[in-house]
Amino acid sequence: MKRMKSLLVSAVAGATLLAGTQIAQAGESKTNPIMGIPSAALARFGGEYGVHNWVESLFYYIMLDNRINYIFKEFGNVDRQIALNTQLETMVLGGPNEYQGASMSAAHADLGITMTQFNAVVEAAYNACERNNIAYYTCNHLIAALAPFTRVIVTK
Ligand code: HEM
Repeated sequence: MKRMKSLLVSAVAGATLLAGTQIAQAGESKTNPIMGIPSAALARFGGEYGVHNWVESLFYYIMLDNRINYIFKEFGNVDRQIALNTQLETMVLGGPNEYQGASMSAAHADLGITMTQFNAVVEAAYNACERNNIAYYTCNHLIAALAPFTRVIVTK
């Protein structure tokens, strides 16, 4: 129940960011151009190294989850996905690096991913934040920035 509440709160936070409204935090004025994410967000993740640790934890929780791990076992390449997700998430958080993988629509087109499976990955993302001591506020910025991909990733 607590988890469902978290997902709901994140969805609302995502919608708020998408609407162009910034979530304010005391003493924070600068924002990156991407999705109104505060310029401090990447540093709060621990830079690219911290994002890499977060992505490793994300895949740890994904592979423990019987609702979705079989998809990654059958179609995924976890090492490649950890490397590419580190690039993508660092970039989304305002890092200077470039994402070198496939587009989100091309990568997920044939997988028939449902909203329930997508939410299971979001759950793993929050668990990875907790595991890496990343504050809920900062975690929400990344989740909200990735939320727009839902419409091309969820095809079923
Ligand atoms: C916002 C959420 C998501 C992001 C940011 C994301 C990101 C990525 C990235 C960066 C890749 C690598 C693309 C490449 O190999 O060039 C990938 C591939 C993949 N993703 Fe996702 N993903 C998301 C959601 C999901 C969900 C919900 C599932 C399944 C439940 C999933 C399953 C897979 C699989 C199986 C692959 C490998 C596809 C292949 O190599 O053919 N992803 N994803």
